[in-house]
Amino acid sequence: MRVKLPVREAILNRRTYEAPAEGRSDKLRLDFNENTTGCSPAVRRALAKLTTKQLAMYPEYQAPTRRIAHYFGVRPQELLLTNGGDDALRVFFDTFVEPGSSILICEPTFPMYRYYAEIYAARISVLRYGSEMEFPLADVVAALRKKPRVVFIANPNNPTGTLVQKEELRQILKAATHTAVVMDEAYGEFSGFSAMPWIYKNPQLFVAKTFSKVAGLAALRLGAVIACDESLALVRRAMPPFPVNLAALVAGDAAVGDRATMRDYVNGVKVRRAWFAKELAELGVKTFSSAGNFILANFGPRGPVLFQKLEKQGILLRERSKDIGPGFVRITIGTHSEMRRLLKTIRKEWKKPD
Ligand SMILES: Cc1ncc(COP(=O)(O)O)c(C=O)c1O
Repeated sequence: MRVKLPVREAILNRRTYEAPAEGRSDKLRLDFNENTTGCSPAVRRALAKLTTKQLAMYPEYQAPTRRIAHYFGVRPQELLLTNGGDDALRVFFDTFVEPGSSILICEPTFPMYRYYAEIYAARISVLRYGSEMEFPLADVVAALRKKPRVVFIANPNNPTGTLVQKEELRQILKAATHTAVVMDEAYGEFSGFSAMPWIYKNPQLFVAKTFSKVAGLAALRLGAVIACDESLALVRRAMPPFPVNLAALVAGDAAVGDRATMRDYVNGVKVRRAWFAKELAELGVKTFSSAGNFILANFGPRGPVLFQKLEKQGILLRERSKDIGPGFVRITIGTHSEMRRLLKTIRKEWKKPD
């Protein structure tokens, strides 16, 4: 049967769709910034209590939203739950972006901003992080004068680990008079900085969150958008009535009820991040200061061969040779024993440059 489907031009123009990686569970997964320590045991207990009746009902959001909002230090009307962090980014396209309107990003960064921009036929204005992965503040402030619909800033940035703080944020918000400013705080807990308290004086500010990192719930797909009541009400207009499934809701609720588990994980990551950077420096490998649960390293021209050898031994890292430069790699900070295994294998497979 021959059918001519009326596909949107933006979709026809998209180059590829990359299927997510499979078969990772028995490997050393230092490639996706997952929480390799695992979520709170309270999450498993809460999921086990779900009844068939609950599963048959459409989810009810009020009570868990109240508790999750409390965890973030905002009111329920300032919190919108979404189907994962990716979806917490998509909502800005549905709300603010028409075909041909422009969005602003700084690369290298999380690829989903570009991904959605292509699907929504937005024009993409791209700035670059500096050679030391510093945030291009002056360029961003200048670009905001052109009034892009949305600026996306991953903070800390994935993969560079760069953190935008108070003074830079103040300048960005001042310049963003006609732009929605999305601070993507997927890794905010590891950085000690959050833009959330700024929502009250800045209606153009939106904070995107995910439960895939510090809460260890990547499989369940739970994210959130935080903004002042009036601004978030605009985003809500673009939402379906049941964007989040009950298992994700129950898991997120239980996770925020156990702050100690998340705090221990964050503290452990910070210690291992500093230690691992020092170990790499001793091997002559350049690393960039990171505020996330990962670290960007430059192994130079012989990096790609090393990464292949590691992969053959079941050690997965996120190589960034193509978009940053040959030998760049993003490494998730795993448990102590995982990092020791990685380091031992690197030492074995990689000789110091002369
Ligand atoms: C900066 C950033 N934002 C958002 C996300 C999306 O998170 P999720 O896994 O919940 O879709 C990620 C995931 O890696 C990320 O790195």
